[in-house]
Amino acid sequence: MKPHTRSNCRILGFLLTAGLFVVIFTHYRTISNDLHLLNIEKFVKFCVNGFSSSTRKEFVYLVQAESCLSRHLTSFVKSDNISKRCDVIVLSWGKPCIDLYTSLNDVVYIYQSNTTWSNGRNILYHLALNGREKYRYYIFMDEDIEFSFTPNTTQDIYSRNSTHPLEAFENFLLSYEPAIGLCNYCSRCGRPMLNGLLVPALCCSTRPAEGNFPPILPVTISFDAAFNAFHADAIQHILPYRLDYEEASWWESQKYVILASDVLFRGQVVRYTHMTVTNNDHRDYPKQILDNWADILEDIRTRVPLKYRNQSVFTTVPIVEMVPIVTGNMIYTLLWNISIPQAKAPIVPYHHFDK
Ligand SMILES: *[C@@H]1O[C@H](CO)[C@@H](O)[C@H](O)[C@H]1NC(C)=O
Ligand SMILES: *[C@@H]1O[C@H](CO)[C@@H](O)[C@H](O)[C@H]1NC(C)=O
Ligand SMILES: *[C@@H]1O[C@H](CO)[C@@H](O)[C@H](O)[C@H]1NC(C)=O
Ligand SMILES: *[C@@H]1O[C@H](CO)[C@@H](O)[C@H](O)[C@H]1NC(C)=O
Ligand SMILES: *[C@@H]1O[C@H](CO)[C@@H](O)[C@H](O)[C@H]1NC(C)=O
Ligand SMILES: *[C@@H]1O[C@H](CO)[C@@H](O)[C@H](O)[C@H]1NC(C)=O
Repeated sequence: MKPHTRSNCRILGFLLTAGLFVVIFTHYRTISNDLHLLNIEKFVKFCVNGFSSSTRKEFVYLVQAESCLSRHLTSFVKSDNISKRCDVIVLSWGKPCIDLYTSLNDVVYIYQSNTTWSNGRNILYHLALNGREKYRYYIFMDEDIEFSFTPNTTQDIYSRNSTHPLEAFENFLLSYEPAIGLCNYCSRCGRPMLNGLLVPALCCSTRPAEGNFPPILPVTISFDAAFNAFHADAIQHILPYRLDYEEASWWESQKYVILASDVLFRGQVVRYTHMTVTNNDHRDYPKQILDNWADILEDIRTRVPLKYRNQSVFTTVPIVEMVPIVTGNMIYTLLWNISIPQAKAPIVPYHHFDK
């Protein structure tokens, strides 16, 4: 068996055991009712060589979409045509995407209906990790987000030559290399008025109590799942997403990500605050509110190496939304004080406990 044939078998075997309905475009060919293979060449090329064998890609965007990529993401992928830094894998959960594909070489679509938010992300995670291409960052995102430069921020070394905020964010990832890269995050929320009506408003990431954001700001502690970039050296310590509470709420899996990220990589879970992601849509899915942060932290503790299990992080009740005080290079919170790491700090789990 030639090596690439074995690799195909592994990928296809994975897809079949995952019960995936694979849709790859160009030559629409229905194999059976629930397995659609279109443009098998493109898919196999992705599995065996990555999308492009000539240049090494730094990023893979892992996107869940109702059908096709949104227009602003498509235009970003098109603008990547010179630097060729990213590939994109899209899981369509509503209906297969059957246009747009011809113009986008670096995008592969798969189709899987009836997924939850987290098991859809896990399918993308396994696909990206089992492919031949080794990326530096695995960037998960929802389709219903928009990117902008954060208002009232000045240019910095990452944004200076960038026309698109995502390009500045990619520069940040490559130059600074956080374990987990995030950005300023806002979602549409309502502010209640006295008469009970809601005023549309934006709810954004926790801000420092005073002044503007420094461009690089470790999180304290919570962060939304809408846009998360995991470094290759960190991702397998944090993912796949846990599905324990999936029937009650699709938000629970992110609590494991948040707490595990803090326990393993405190200080290296970093927002690039000069880019803002805004989530405009709110969809209908299970979102029961559960007060279980302490249970999830205890679960994480049982998986931590023995020598770290008595750390104070496990004996104090977690506070996940803390407004930090930022002074120079230091961040002060209710639970801990840390200095902001220098660029390209080694990504080693539990390193902060050993200091
Ligand atoms: C590459 O993208 C730029 C826009 O960023 C566009 O002007 C140019 O025509 C594109 N080139 C190709 C070959 O698509
Ligand atoms: C969708 O998934 C749920 C949970 O796995 C299952 O109970 C249900 O039967 C599935 N529905 C369809 C139409 O496949
Ligand atoms: C930006 O700065 C201006 C002037 O200081 C202020 O009026 C405005 O509210 C600021 N906008 C944001 C989003 O902070
Ligand atoms: C970035 O922009 C500055 C001017 O703002 C310019 O001097 C520099 O050469 C540019 N760097 C690159 C890599 O294009
Ligand atoms: C952790 O604490 C428990 C109970 O206090 C103790 O029995 C155990 O030896 C401690 N383990 C380490 C590695 O310090
Ligand atoms: C953090 O620093 C402040 C100010 O120096 C100090 O009062 C506090 O005890 C420190 N907290 C921790 C957890 O070390």
